[in-house]
Parts: sequence; structure tokens; C-alpha cells
Amino acid sequence: MRKTRYATTASLQLMLLSFFITTCSKKDTAAPPDLCLGVNYTIDYFKTESVGGANNGTIAINYPIGDTISYKLNNGTFQASRNFTNLAPGNYILTVKNQNNCTDTITIAIFAYGPKYALVRSVISGYCGPCHYNGGNTAGKNFNTDSSVLFNWDIIKARAVDNVPTQMPAAPNAPLTAIDKQKITDWVNAGHRILD
Ligand code: HEC
Repeated sequence: MRKTRYATTASLQLMLLSFFITTCSKKDTAAPPDLCLGVNYTIDYFKTESVGGANNGTIAINYPIGDTISYKLNNGTFQASRNFTNLAPGNYILTVKNQNNCTDTITIAIFAYGPKYALVRSVISGYCGPCHYNGGNTAGKNFNTDSSVLFNWDIIKARAVDNVPTQMPAAPNAPLTAIDKQKITDWVNAGHRILD
């Protein structure tokens, strides 16, 4: 259907009139101050995954912390402790609340790891940074994510266990101990999957 080309003067006047009535007839009441306005938290946490089907994932909040802050997971009740333990794998919504009942949330994923893979992850986080961990991307390799470790299992073993073509951690850093090399070997032999 074609629109009318011009609004008639009468309907235009009516529109303006109702605009002034609605905007100018409001009472000047001050809104209550919004205590939560501008409150947001850059929530910082450390988590460990659930290993070997034991539902033993953990979350420890590093920021914000303090006497006036409380925390809850999903629809649980708020608690003062910044630690959550015995977590099954899954996505959790963490809510932090301050003394004015202002809240902020973040989603945290707890993954399911096999015991051998969990050991490999701790070797990597312990020895492959700063070059390939956190912000590191030396030689185009960063091992922060499970997918990057799973994808690169063969060259991780070649370098960190067999020192081929060069040892990792890169010299002059010490090579891994025999015990740590064995953790990688065991995981590779088991099938180098996330649940191994
Ligand atoms: C001090 C920095 C440093 C540390 C620590 C380090 N690397 Fe490296 N890594 C390098 C450098 C530099 C290269 C590129 C030179 C080379 O290939 O030797 C490299 C290359 C690699 C490559 C080859 C990438 C490719 O595309 O072929 C792998 C795999 C690797 N590192 C794995 C590891 C693992 C696993 C660890 C921990 C056990 C580790 N690195 C620790 C510096 C480091």
C-alpha cells in the first residue's frame, strides 16, 4: 500500500500538541540515585578442570574480593567464600554482589579432562610460557587452549620429549625432567585425547 505523501497540517498540529502535553506536564521529581550505575567488575578467577570424571573442578575468584562481596554459581545461594569446589564439567554463571546489591556476572566453563591429559596441561602451563603460553605465540604456537594442545600433540612430543629437531623448552632453558617427559609420553600412548 502506498503511503500518503504529506501529513495533513491538522494531524501534524495534533502530534505537536500531544508531544508538549506529555513532555511539559511531568512533575519534577528526582529519581532515586541508582547505586549500581556504573558498577561493573572485571571478574578475575583461577579455575581447575574436572579430572577423571571425579566432578572435582574448582573456581577461585581473585577479583573482586573483600568483606562486602559475595558470590554464587548459577541459581545457588550467595556465599562469602570466593572458592567453589567439587564442580562437575559444564558452564557456570558466576554472580558477584556488593553491599548495595549490585551484581555482575561472568560465564565460566569447567572442562572434563582425563588424568593423563591433566598432567600434560600442567607441564605445558608450567614450562612452555612465556613463549607459548598466556600472551606468548613464539613460532606461531600458543598452547592456552585444549584444541591447540590436542592438534599439536605430535610436535609437542617431538620437541619436549625427544628434543627433535631442537629441545623444548628452548635452550638455554633446561629440558623437561624425565618424570615430566613421561607424562607427555603416557598421554600420547594412551591416544592423546582430552579424556585420556
Ligand atoms: C624460552 C622460550 C620457549 C619456551 C619456554 C618454549 N619454547 Fe617452544 N619454541 C621456542 C622458539 C624460539 C621456537 C622456534 C625455534 C625452534 O623451532 O627451535 C619454538 C618452537 C616450538 C615448536 C615448533 C613449532 C612448529 O611450528 O614446528 C613446538 C612444538 C614447541 N616450541 C613446543 C614447546 C613446548 C611443548 C614447550 C614447553 C614444554 C616449549 N615449546 C617451550 C621458544 C620456547
